[in-house]
Amino acid sequence: MAIPKTAEELKTMAEELGLAFRYGDAAVLASPCQIGAKTAPNRLVCQAMEGCDGTADGLPDTLTKRRYRRLAEGGAGVIWFEATAVMEEARANPRQLYLNESNLDSFRRQAEAIREDAFRANGYAPLLVIQLTHSGRYSKPHGRPEPLIAYHSPVYEAESPIGDDRVVTDDYLDRVGEALVNAAALAARAGFDGADIKCCHRYLNCELLSAYTRPGRYGGSFENRTRLLRESVAGALQVCPADFLVTSRLNVYDGAPYPYGFGMAADGSLAFDPAEPSALASRLAALGVKLLNITMGNPYVNPHVNRPFAAGPYAAPEAPLAGVARMLNGTAALKQAAPELKLICSALSYLGVAAPAVAAGYVESGGFDLAGFGRTIFAYPDFARDILQTGGMKPEKCCLCCSRCSAIMRAGFTPGCPVRDAAVYGEIARGILSR
Ligand SMILES: Cc1cc2nc3c(=O)[nH]c(=O)nc-3n(C[C@H](O)[C@H](O)[C@H](O)COP(=O)(O)O)c2cc1C
Repeated sequence: MAIPKTAEELKTMAEELGLAFRYGDAAVLASPCQIGAKTAPNRLVCQAMEGCDGTADGLPDTLTKRRYRRLAEGGAGVIWFEATAVMEEARANPRQLYLNESNLDSFRRQAEAIREDAFRANGYAPLLVIQLTHSGRYSKPHGRPEPLIAYHSPVYEAESPIGDDRVVTDDYLDRVGEALVNAAALAARAGFDGADIKCCHRYLNCELLSAYTRPGRYGGSFENRTRLLRESVAGALQVCPADFLVTSRLNVYDGAPYPYGFGMAADGSLAFDPAEPSALASRLAALGVKLLNITMGNPYVNPHVNRPFAAGPYAAPEAPLAGVARMLNGTAALKQAAPELKLICSALSYLGVAAPAVAAGYVESGGFDLAGFGRTIFAYPDFARDILQTGGMKPEKCCLCCSRCSAIMRAGFTPGCPVRDAAVYGEIARGILSR
């Protein structure tokens, strides 16, 4: 199923599928958004998109710098700087960025470069939030799997079992919490506006949210399963300046049945139950969090949930628009439960040229506050400028949701868009996809 070519076509497709989206005037996306003591100059967000192109030491390298220069010039109000490891063994690939005391200056220069490039191009700078991660089950610091898991899950281990020695201890999780808090303090010193204690896509912090079967301080009860996130957030809020945004990219639906997924109906089906995610959002707000970036799914196992695709590694069990609707309406459900929080949505790319109208519909009606674009930023780094200046996106620049960027990443190379950015990524993709 190809992405919709117009907003009208989207309306027809959605109606046929019995799906409800909201629609509005894209002009609202140009309005500033107050988030705590900070202001995003507009409602458009470059979501975290990893390029797996840092140096062996975890510093931004040539392709990383190119990516952020293009995004800075593109005019989005928020740039969610990609997954950045907080411990060496926590890296998802040997070229994942890794923030630590010894390389702080490189991150400081990267943040400054983004602001300068944005000012030069647009006369304003975006809010810059860095994503801090421990890859847990998907750690591959040396290019081969070295999983560190919160608990054994038959959903993920049926075909490739993982040894008991890879289940992390409570003491280890205490150290992960300290590393996250230290990294948030480093991010503030490097000049970022905020730090995301990453809790999504089945990486370590996210896996803990569904650790019903884990004994000890980090498993079982809601209190225990959310402990690492809550305590890292509270710790970061304590050590960072008062105006610094401590936030989280949060999975509110895993798409793996209870008791192996978070945000899942208790009957073991794949239905979404927003009760615990809503309670968690409220608890985070009570700690002082002002902003959450909402997402769903596990990109390794159910990418049709996480990043609805037109062509992908398997035939998806649902229409891609159903995945987009789950994401947007699920985010709106969270917003209803915790209206004091500013929320960013995910997974707008599949809507193509219809994305601005739909994002505007949710922003106007209070469904969420900021519109997050993921794969689009690889294909169309200046999407924000086109929306802000013309009210729309150009069809010939839109992401096709063809999954080639994901395929490049899974093959262990540097992802980008081989279709719209062929001069840089065409060759890389041809080598991999022809195998
Ligand atoms: C190549 C690639 C890299 C990604 N890197 C990250 C990342 O570093 N952190 C993160 O939270 N999500 C990451 N994502 C997920 C996206 O941010 C986004 O949630 C997803 O693509 C769905 O949004 P979209 O439909 O607009 O693409 C990545 C996705 C892809 C395809």
